[in-house]
Amino acid sequence: MQRIEIQKIHKNPSDYTEGQIVVCGWVRTLRSSKAVAFAQINDGSGFVGLQVVLEVGALPDFASLCKLGVGTAVEVHGTLRLTPDASQAFELLAARVVVQGACDGAYPLQKKRHSPEFLRTIGHLRPRTNTIGAALRVRSAAAYAIHSFFMEQGFVYANTPIITTADAEGAGKMFRVTTLDIENPPHTRDGALDEHADFFEKPAYLTVSGQLQGEAMAMAFGKIYTFGPTFRAEKSYTARHAAEFWMVEPEIAFADLQDDMRLAESMIKYVIDRVLAQCSDEIAFFNQFVDNGLLNRLTHVANADFAHVSYTRAIELLTPHNDQFEYKVSWGIDLQTEHERMLTEMLFGAPVFVTDYPKEIKAFYMRQNDDGKTVAAMDLLVPGIGEIIGGSQREERLDLLADRIRAMGQHPEQYDWYLDLRRYGGCPHAGFGLGFERLIMYLTGVANIRDVIAFPRTTGSAAY
Ligand code: 4AD
Ligand code: MG
Repeated sequence: MQRIEIQKIHKNPSDYTEGQIVVCGWVRTLRSSKAVAFAQINDGSGFVGLQVVLEVGALPDFASLCKLGVGTAVEVHGTLRLTPDASQAFELLAARVVVQGACDGAYPLQKKRHSPEFLRTIGHLRPRTNTIGAALRVRSAAAYAIHSFFMEQGFVYANTPIITTADAEGAGKMFRVTTLDIENPPHTRDGALDEHADFFEKPAYLTVSGQLQGEAMAMAFGKIYTFGPTFRAEKSYTARHAAEFWMVEPEIAFADLQDDMRLAESMIKYVIDRVLAQCSDEIAFFNQFVDNGLLNRLTHVANADFAHVSYTRAIELLTPHNDQFEYKVSWGIDLQTEHERMLTEMLFGAPVFVTDYPKEIKAFYMRQNDDGKTVAAMDLLVPGIGEIIGGSQREERLDLLADRIRAMGQHPEQYDWYLDLRRYGGCPHAGFGLGFERLIMYLTGVANIRDVIAFPRTTGSAAY
């Protein structure tokens, strides 16, 4: 007999009430008395599991089944009974239970609440828990929604390199990729490290962003997006920074900063709609146990316009609150999380685009505004997290771009191919990067980035 996934039964229980069915899954809980036992089993096909009823008269091995440990993998043959008056809509009356894999009492996920810190020490087991399981399922649905959003609008999905020789952000926070013997590296005659002896015959790194190659693709396809892993070697111990994270980076030709923000806003709303529809059980769970305001906030955000404020105005709005900040604000500083959260949570109470930042605190590729001081940049800040998107209109003017590269202490020759994009049919264009994990935090209310990644990599930690 073919097994039926529990999620399928939830969709149409009455389809499965004729004759016997087979369900496989793992025991989440088991309560037993003399004559009857109730097991909750879950097969991972959905958030909600299935109640299995074990009766002494129906099962010769009833006594031993009552001793099954939490976590046991079972195959249950039985008949489905609709129970419209009970708390669950149906249950499975077991006629035969086959133990596929036992699970003894040492199993760390016994039925009780476990702290997120403890669960992080058992990363290989924690996807089986409600919270991590739901977060990872939302992650999967959100990834699908992102692809649908861009595909429906005719974007080309571009895969940009993971190993790169270009520093996309010009910030130097890159992991070096090398096959050189670090204990005994080769040297040139003048005693310097012999980079030429390395695998790529020059220094190579894990990418911090696919943007620069994405721009090259946009100059061919008009609108593209990337969706892939990115890496940052920044030592940070915050709840929103990971060393390995996924970024979604659209890039659009013949477009300015306004077009860029419109795209970002419609993408976020689309993803929220899709996740609310596809993951209603997961979102209801997060709303009840993790973040009581979640459902309200998401429905509200999906239907309201995002706010807009210039960096200069944001500084004016924040300055009166300087006594509450660890880092005081003044024009020219980079906004810290505490400032971002004050803006989006207290001053606007909604997602807000902050635009036109001072050029000194932003990357070299951003387009200079006419005031000579600011660039056409935008960050999208959301309550609870701060920045989830960073983007800009790109500098399409060759001479100004080369100047910026020089001003940041870099050499235009290193970016020669990137400058070619301005030499050969350059045009106004814009794009942004969405931190995918930050989006999942926003969609679930989960407060730590380590809990929306199955196997997180952060400063000082790369288990598995
Ligand atoms: O603001 P960032 O650095 O922008 C870029 O990399 C641009 N090249 C994007 C573009 O215009 N195509 O990063 C974009 C987003 C941030 O807003 C944040 O959400 C996320 O990536 N991010 C991180 N997420 C987790 N851990 C980190 N260490 C992150 N650093 C950035
Ligand atoms: Mg940024």
